[in-house]
Amino acid sequence: MSTTDQPGPEPAYAARAAALLRAAANDLKRNDSAAEADLGLPPGTFAEYTSGRQPITWDLIGRAARVWPLNERDLLPIHDDTTHGLRMVRAKESEASSRIIERGGGPYYEYRDTAMSRLASYRPEWIRMLRLVEDDDPDNPAVNWNKGHLLYQFTYFVGPVNYYYRSDGRSYCVEMRTGDSVWGLPFAPHSFTARSDAEPAYILALTYGGELTGDSQRELSAFGRAATGALALPLGDHGALLRSIMAGRLMTVGELADRSGLTPDRVAALCAASTRADWSELVVLADALGVSVRELVAPHTTTEADVRIQPGRTAPRWAYPGDDRPAYRFTQLASDPLHPHTTSLEVEVLTSRPDTALPATYQHQYLYVLGDEPVAVRWRHDGEQFDGQLEPGDSGYVVPGIELRLSAAKPTRLLMLRISGAATPDVRFALGAMRPDAIGRYVAEDRLWY
Ligand SMILES: [Fe+2]
Repeated sequence: MSTTDQPGPEPAYAARAAALLRAAANDLKRNDSAAEADLGLPPGTFAEYTSGRQPITWDLIGRAARVWPLNERDLLPIHDDTTHGLRMVRAKESEASSRIIERGGGPYYEYRDTAMSRLASYRPEWIRMLRLVEDDDPDNPAVNWNKGHLLYQFTYFVGPVNYYYRSDGRSYCVEMRTGDSVWGLPFAPHSFTARSDAEPAYILALTYGGELTGDSQRELSAFGRAATGALALPLGDHGALLRSIMAGRLMTVGELADRSGLTPDRVAALCAASTRADWSELVVLADALGVSVRELVAPHTTTEADVRIQPGRTAPRWAYPGDDRPAYRFTQLASDPLHPHTTSLEVEVLTSRPDTALPATYQHQYLYVLGDEPVAVRWRHDGEQFDGQLEPGDSGYVVPGIELRLSAAKPTRLLMLRISGAATPDVRFALGAMRPDAIGRYVAEDRLWY
């Protein structure tokens, strides 16, 4: 991938590595001399590493992973490749990443990378359809299918694109046009073709791993297929969720009935059924189990055949901050309750109220300029204000917590996809339980624990 701002020497990375080593030694209750004895280091040198005066080497990480019950990656920080919290990728950089993918013995797609960051799980591609079809037959032999992939896929359509998807052995084809969108579950086979070559036919295929990749995938792949399968919770099944929480707490139906005041028959019925308990029952059950009500409520999905299609013409639209002289107009694109922290929007940047802030969000943000006019971007990072510009076809990545102000001399449109990172609500509530000075130590441990 072509970039203008590859991470060079990055002092913050070295400091984060030093902090991880200190935190690992703390977790294992090793002071400096115990750590030196374990790692075979001369006396007095451990502090050189944890203070950042000595760079952490592969050799040291390898030794730590051999003698301590941790993994090499536990001592490896991640790179911040943003500039003041943003990473912009120009249309010409995307064009330079162009490659033609052949399927079925001929050119099928042209792929171009758009803004990715080492901080987020996005793998967003601009993809042009090179295979032309004249019908909407999912069994058309000119259509070449993939086998599906791990990443979630949000797709935004531009032009006459046919979208094919397959679930439970049934194949479907939907004729898409500009503004339509779809959200798809992992491993659902799919394909795209063009119905015409008289106008552009392409998609923005915004794939992302979200909470499925990273640590969770590494942990589960070590457990194996059977153990991972046993951890899967059925969507919308409140009884299965209650049984799982009870099993984790070694709770019996009789004991839970005693504690909650519900009858044993009612507790057993709630365990057996997928339907949700009444709110008053949820409150007493949660209290009896010592958990929050949210732990007893199973999310549902609105996907059908593994996908959720949102036609542009029926998509909800609203003005921001209100109908009176709005700065932005939003169109809600395909999403699903299974991913409550994913937000997909078409953003119209209007001209009547420039420099209106979009409130900071906990999500990672991806932007792509769909319109023919540039967008000015103003943002604040670490108390400083910055300005940039996204031209048509440019894309951007924005770290969580940034307040963005988008303005344009002429109205223009962006695609926006916001996703959650590793900081799930559980993590964010845990941060909320910390004192402010503890948050500083959480992100960069700098001292011995005692
Ligand atoms: Fe895909």
